Amino acid sequence: MFAPVYLDHNATTPADAAVVDAMLPWLSLQFGNPSSRHEYGRAARRAIDHARRQVAAAVGAQPGEIVFTSGGSEANNLLIKGAAACFKPGILAVGASEHPCVIKPAEQIARRGWTLHRLAVDSEGRIDMDAFAAVMALKPKIVSVMLANNETGVLQEIELLAAMARRAGALFHSDAVQAVGKVAVDFRQLNAAGVQALTLSAHKFGGPKGAAALVMDKRVDLEALIAGGGHERGLRSGTENVAAIVGFGVACELAVQRCAEVAPRLLALRERLEERLLKLGAIVFGRAAERLPNTVFFAFPELDGETVVGQLDRAGYAIASGAACSSANPEPSHVLRAMGVGPDLARGALRVSFGSGNTPEQVNGFLDALQTTVARLRQLTAMAV
Ligand SMILES: Cc1ncc(COP(=O)(O)O)c(C=O)c1O
Repeated sequence: MFAPVYLDHNATTPADAAVVDAMLPWLSLQFGNPSSRHEYGRAARRAIDHARRQVAAAVGAQPGEIVFTSGGSEANNLLIKGAAACFKPGILAVGASEHPCVIKPAEQIARRGWTLHRLAVDSEGRIDMDAFAAVMALKPKIVSVMLANNETGVLQEIELLAAMARRAGALFHSDAVQAVGKVAVDFRQLNAAGVQALTLSAHKFGGPKGAAALVMDKRVDLEALIAGGGHERGLRSGTENVAAIVGFGVACELAVQRCAEVAPRLLALRERLEERLLKLGAIVFGRAAERLPNTVFFAFPELDGETVVGQLDRAGYAIASGAACSSANPEPSHVLRAMGVGPDLARGALRVSFGSGNTPEQVNGFLDALQTTVARLRQLTAMAV
């Protein structure tokens, strides 16, 4: 099979070979239901307990603080809707650049009597501290701000924000889906600052799709989204996806072991890429902010992002655009719009996100292909006017 160079690790990552090996028995001979009282069941339960310890250890949490879910999207929905169900309607505040799986549930509860505030970000994508303080003065009940943005890679000052939210009496959640494996994530330290819940997702760091967790301070009250047999401390019923959870545990262990070695390599790739992008006339979004080491979000004025992605795909490079293509009419990225980027430039957005397998040679090859593509498209654009 023709295998293009994969530069889209914020979308998903290839599962590590050790992860696949660990999962396979749970898809064949070890098929027991973890709730069964015989040896098949007990073996599956032990595997889940082990994975729970691995996930907890990776983020400095206690095993009892891990609630397994089917994905980061479910974990974010569980936190927002589950917490809202335990309060009388009040104010809910979420970052304007959050992933849709935070924004949409927030909008859903806003239709049920809550007041939703979208926390403004500055031109680099960082939460605007004055605007944040103003919203905290209104005493919100739930606040959610992501640790790292999936499009720009911009990192938020989570401990500072959480401390402000705690002083306001709010429950503070952070979506850390893009952070694990790229920067250190320590729930104990975050929890001490005021973060009460954190979302993780296995497929963003070498684990399988369909396994994720809400890491949560046990003092937080949540109503389950999925009620039934009372799995996961009653917070998420349903027979556990044993193989995926086992893979999640192994991926966590590997991600933490490798982070210190991988992160500087990713950063070197990012710097190599950005240096040449700027020379080619690209605008790099969030460049002045602290960012994930693996992510570059950029645009060439006048060029359409989707077109560039298509041409690079044909040239053998898999990257992402910044458009949320949910319909025939791709909307420009809401993250860039929140940062004050105009719709025309936002439609040009392109995202490269590196993974541990990428090399400097691949980046050079990509840059050559990009340079050729940009020159060709610029020529076509010039001819059209
Ligand atoms: C920041 C962020 N949060 C949540 C999610 C959703 O995670 P999942 O794909 O596991 O549902 C994603 C996935 O793209 C993400 O980037």
